[in-house]
Amino acid sequence: MSLLLTGIAELTTNDPERRDGHTDPGDALLGIVRDAALVVSAAGEVEWVGPAAKAPAADDRRDLGGRAVIPGFVDSHTHLVFAGDRSAEFAARMTGTPYDGGGIAVSVAATRAASDDDLRALVASRVAEMRAQGTTTVEIKSGYGLTLDDELRSLRVARELTPHTTFLGAHVVPGEYATRRAAYVDLVTGPMLDAVVADGPTALAESIDVFCEPHSAHAFDGDEARTVLEAGRAAGLSLRVHGNQLGHGPGVRLACELGARSVDHCTFLDDADVEALAAARGTTVATLLPGVEFSTRSPYPDARALIDAGVDVALASDCNPGTCYSSSIPFAIALAVREMGMTPAEALHAATAVSARSLGLDRRVAPGQPAELAVIDAPSHLHLAYRAGVPIVRALDV
Ligand code: NIG
Ligand code: FE
Repeated sequence: MSLLLTGIAELTTNDPERRDGHTDPGDALLGIVRDAALVVSAAGEVEWVGPAAKAPAADDRRDLGGRAVIPGFVDSHTHLVFAGDRSAEFAARMTGTPYDGGGIAVSVAATRAASDDDLRALVASRVAEMRAQGTTTVEIKSGYGLTLDDELRSLRVARELTPHTTFLGAHVVPGEYATRRAAYVDLVTGPMLDAVVADGPTALAESIDVFCEPHSAHAFDGDEARTVLEAGRAAGLSLRVHGNQLGHGPGVRLACELGARSVDHCTFLDDADVEALAAARGTTVATLLPGVEFSTRSPYPDARALIDAGVDVALASDCNPGTCYSSSIPFAIALAVREMGMTPAEALHAATAVSARSLGLDRRVAPGQPAELAVIDAPSHLHLAYRAGVPIVRALDV
């Protein structure tokens, strides 16, 4: 049965072909159509998009009552595969204890101890929580297993819920390797990586990631990160990088040099980092994660300066038990607008079109695209940041 959706006060298409005719730059960026309708095919694809007055007939019809429809959020950076509780670490941080990555070991121990079924249920409930807030596509990393078997298990659990899985064996050096860092890098780039790609380069993981952070004793320096990324690339994986989160460092430039799809955090950037990101436009996206700055009480990156320098800027949640246990993209959008100088339109574009691109996806609402949509209980996308903290957006079931 095809379905005609009407009563759409404002439709964000992200379609460059719908940029013309707008006087507002935000409307142009988002390819907005007002008083819109769209037809979804029986196969769940967008079949027709345009003004309601010109809508064709369909088998079924639903009136959305003057709401706004947007592309579903693409959360391109999450760590959903974990067990255990680190709320006390968050509380301690709010009274001054800084974040240094050491708490990851707590999640690793709890994740290793969890049963397959418990882990599967935890991840599924987090994905459902995201969908209830408008996220229809999610990337999920491993990284709380840190043994060959536990990393494979994490990726398998994630793969049951999304094709966009990322091997993060190089999250931190686990305790049992603390005095043998090189041996752990050998394990990640040797037996672990071999097992991840054993059934084909993307059978279990689409990408490889590394926590490149010389400011953490637990994470990896630039040389170690390069070794991990080059091994992943040789094995056929796309590259993603955690870079420049806790201080200035080599992560951003390394990601740009190696053609990573995304370098994430970008909290501490110098001019050379911004130049490298601008030069890497079209290849490497800077994914900002403002929920992390919020939850670790850190300075926010200057998204305005990055966009003005020509950098591709995405937004994601980084949902994880340590630095940001929020799965909410609307919260990230509100922070981006309030704290990082992004316009509401830029923030929505960053959390849909640009984050999608960092996963090799197209997130336009246009004929032939999957109908991955979200609906807002409000007449425009401006309400996402304006009504911060109010649950007005959810995935649209069609
Ligand atoms: O993206 N920085 C590294 N990894 C996560 C935090 C992991 C944790 O603390 O559990 C992040 O912030
Ligand atoms: Fe992360």
